[in-house]
Amino acid sequence: MNDQLIIFDTTLRDGEQSPGASMTREEKLRIARQLERMRVDVIEAGFAAASNGDFEAVRGIAEVIKESTVCSLARANENDIRRSGEAIRPAPLGRIHTFIATSPIHMEKKLRMSPDQVVEQAVKAIGWAREYTDDVEFSAEDAGRSEIDFLCRIFEAVIKAGATTINVPDTVGYNVPEQFAATIRALIERVPNSDKVVWSVHCHNDLGLAVANSLAAVRAGARQVECTINGLGERAGNAALEEIVMAVRTRKDIFTCDTRIDTTQIVPASKLVSGITGFPVQPNKAIVGANAFSHESGIHQDGVLKHRETYEIMRAEDVGWGANKLVLGKHSGRNAFRSRLAEIGIVVESEEHLNHAFARFKELADKKHEIFDEDLHALMSDEVVTPEQEHFRLVAWRFHSETGESPEGEITLSAGGKEIRATARGSGPVDAAFKAIESVAESGTELVLYSVNAITSGTDAQGEVTVRLGRNGKVVNGQGADTDIIVASAKAYLNALNKLHDKQERLNPQV
Ligand code: KIV
Ligand code: ZN
Repeated sequence: MNDQLIIFDTTLRDGEQSPGASMTREEKLRIARQLERMRVDVIEAGFAAASNGDFEAVRGIAEVIKESTVCSLARANENDIRRSGEAIRPAPLGRIHTFIATSPIHMEKKLRMSPDQVVEQAVKAIGWAREYTDDVEFSAEDAGRSEIDFLCRIFEAVIKAGATTINVPDTVGYNVPEQFAATIRALIERVPNSDKVVWSVHCHNDLGLAVANSLAAVRAGARQVECTINGLGERAGNAALEEIVMAVRTRKDIFTCDTRIDTTQIVPASKLVSGITGFPVQPNKAIVGANAFSHESGIHQDGVLKHRETYEIMRAEDVGWGANKLVLGKHSGRNAFRSRLAEIGIVVESEEHLNHAFARFKELADKKHEIFDEDLHALMSDEVVTPEQEHFRLVAWRFHSETGESPEGEITLSAGGKEIRATARGSGPVDAAFKAIESVAESGTELVLYSVNAITSGTDAQGEVTVRLGRNGKVVNGQGADTDIIVASAKAYLNALNKLHDKQERLNPQV
């Protein structure tokens, strides 16, 4: 029997809970379009009650996504659920995902509620959610450390109240595969009407077991897996979508189910998420790492040349490697630019914005003759949509570095609309640029991470820089891309400062 395994992607919600991975509404829309193109079944678009910005992002996604179900997370309280219900209203297929903690430690120490009160609240939550949609998911937070009898009791109650998907999260990544599979099997056997709902799992990777636990649960009867692109997520992350999908597809002899995913969209999705969040993908990462399909040893190379399957269990092109084709050049016109953006999921909402982006594209094409999709993504990530998003802007620069002298950087910034010039020396030109910016911004931040990646190949490639800044426990990532990596670095630093400058307070659903 070949059942469908539902792929529930939570990159935009749990993935965004990774420190520094916060995304703008436009970036979330771009990722949502890519997830839809990849044929993800359910897109968890966010936690609508977290802030007005989060509400707008979920609603914006609900307005444009037609083929995938759009879901909003809500704690089991009336306000969260009504905010979620309003946010998903425009979606042709909308889901509310409500949760409450069920482990003894969470109920007693975090919620300060008795088990009876937790069941009562969960049942009420399903009732509120059903006022908006028939597609209601219930999660027992920290199910991985909850008592099985209590899980059976609460799941029976929420199914009776109208929940259609029951999710079993290993919130703290504590479980191991055999034991997690046994829990899922027991729940499906013991909970009355278990055959009327879809059983789902949501595993965190604290012990590196998120994918193994999810797959063991699928073997035990789970038919939805919650996962993220590149395994992004709280702490050590969530189960990686690409690994779940390719394991099930490659081992058809083991799994009696398959997904609807268009696997050729996996690598583009991975690159998009990595570029937007600034979280690089390690080279040896399964499926989407740069080395995942390269054979270094002579014996392996010889084997693959003679017969590919000697050392390869999947084909690189089946997961989207090799898709980076030359797309545009300096002679490409405005219409070609607009339609390529649309093809890769970037919709430019106003003519003014398109003109601005096109002028920047022309500047880039003058420096770099071949423009790839990755360049377009980087260019558009730099595009500022509202002036509030850009308190600091790089206006002009000059860097000087020569043998025997410490490098000097001169930077002209626009800060809140006022132009200021600053000069500084540093141990290298990037250090000098950051010091010059800091002498103006006086942000008091700590530089937590600095990394540079070439977006495409060749010495004329754009360098994409990620800068992670921390201040008073808040961590932000900034990105900048340019063919000059010192300029890319300055842009990334300013991008991070702009995010810190955005004072919008957001709730984390689990705090
Ligand atoms: O890890 C978790 O328990 C969650 C729930 C909100 C599903 O993210
Ligand atoms: Zn989670």
